Amino acid sequence: MKHLMVRWLRERFDVESIRGPLKHQIEKPLPKNIGWFHTLGSMSLFLFVSQVLTGILLLVYYRPTVNEAFGSVKFIMTEAYVGWLYRQIHAWGANLMVLIVFLHMLRTFITGSFKKPRELTWVFGVVLFLLTLVFGFTGYLLPWNQLAYWATTVGTEVAGSIPWIGEWIKTLLRGGDSVAGETLSRFFVLHVIILPWTMFAVIVIHLFLVRFQGIATMDRVGAEKEIKKGEGTPFFPHHMLKEGVVFFILLGVLITLAILAPFDLGEKADPLQTPHAIKPEWYFLPMYQVLKYFPKLVGIFIVSLAPLFLFLWPFLDKTKERHPLKRPISTAIGALALLSLLVFGMMAHLSETKREFFGRTYQFDIYGIPHPAAAEGGELPGNRP
Ligand code: HEM
Repeated sequence: MKHLMVRWLRERFDVESIRGPLKHQIEKPLPKNIGWFHTLGSMSLFLFVSQVLTGILLLVYYRPTVNEAFGSVKFIMTEAYVGWLYRQIHAWGANLMVLIVFLHMLRTFITGSFKKPRELTWVFGVVLFLLTLVFGFTGYLLPWNQLAYWATTVGTEVAGSIPWIGEWIKTLLRGGDSVAGETLSRFFVLHVIILPWTMFAVIVIHLFLVRFQGIATMDRVGAEKEIKKGEGTPFFPHHMLKEGVVFFILLGVLITLAILAPFDLGEKADPLQTPHAIKPEWYFLPMYQVLKYFPKLVGIFIVSLAPLFLFLWPFLDKTKERHPLKRPISTAIGALALLSLLVFGMMAHLSETKREFFGRTYQFDIYGIPHPAAAEGGELPGNRP
């Protein structure tokens, strides 16, 4: 049967001209330093594909209107055949994708793979990271629940504070003065058409660059030699086997989380009732917290430095060494950036909550500073009016 099919194709197409380059790509040896952390790129790709597939399933019943959105997601979770499962896999997949793409970025930073000649691979990677975040932001509103509605109100308000173009961006996103049906339509179009296709195109460019230039070795910039056949680790089956193992682990984690820790739909959005302590998704928490400490413009300026530095990093870190210990300044800056993300994220998480530590109750103000719990209903120091 297989032979018949091959013969059928050979009689019609010049199969050899495709088979040659394909075989070359599959058998291409990878550098010896390639390990488990080199599977994070493919796992990012897997999560993107999973999001597209579960997203298509969600589209069957989802209705992007103010009156129907919440009810349609509720219907998917309670009535549609295995709807609860694909909605949870989509929600958890979005969170895991942010994490895995970030870890992949961290890996390429630590191994100095962003250096010459792979600067553009990094730059397109930063675009992919930002697109992943915008995916999360736009998708969060779609169930039209209270948390999403108010987080989007705050998020678009922040965009509105950008000097000169802020007001324009805010109105463009909201489609009016406040978050309403028009906003839902716009976020829907962004989330299901513009972002997936843009991301698909950028992934194709990113992967083409990776394949075309080959995976980076740990050699100094300019000293990388071409890996001859039999020298490195074969892509197939050696590295693909590793990817297969990590793929099944990730799939297991995704399904386990979807079943054991499902996301709650909460209450339908009510524009007249502001909930207490509105917080964005965890991956925006560090940015959200930094914005609290500074006047609006200064905060926006500081927060916009992060993507700017990410884009420019390959052109700023000019040392020829790739090993993280041999470029201590770059590594120290990276470690400091990571630490501040964790600290600000944790402070945002704790802010405006009451927690018990070592038998004492503390109230965390909006800046994330703990105070011994005030009497019931008491005012918090540093609370916003
Ligand atoms: C949807 C998002 C992404 C996908 C699907 C993706 C996919 C991949 C794949 C499959 C590889 C080869 C295997 C590996 O090194 O893991 C790779 C390599 C690479 N990626 Fe990504 N990537 C994404 C995001 C990013 C981000 C956010 C960055 C950094 C800002 C980045 C920078 C790089 C670099 C520099 C390489 C070359 C690594 C080397 O030669 O060692 N990628 N990517």
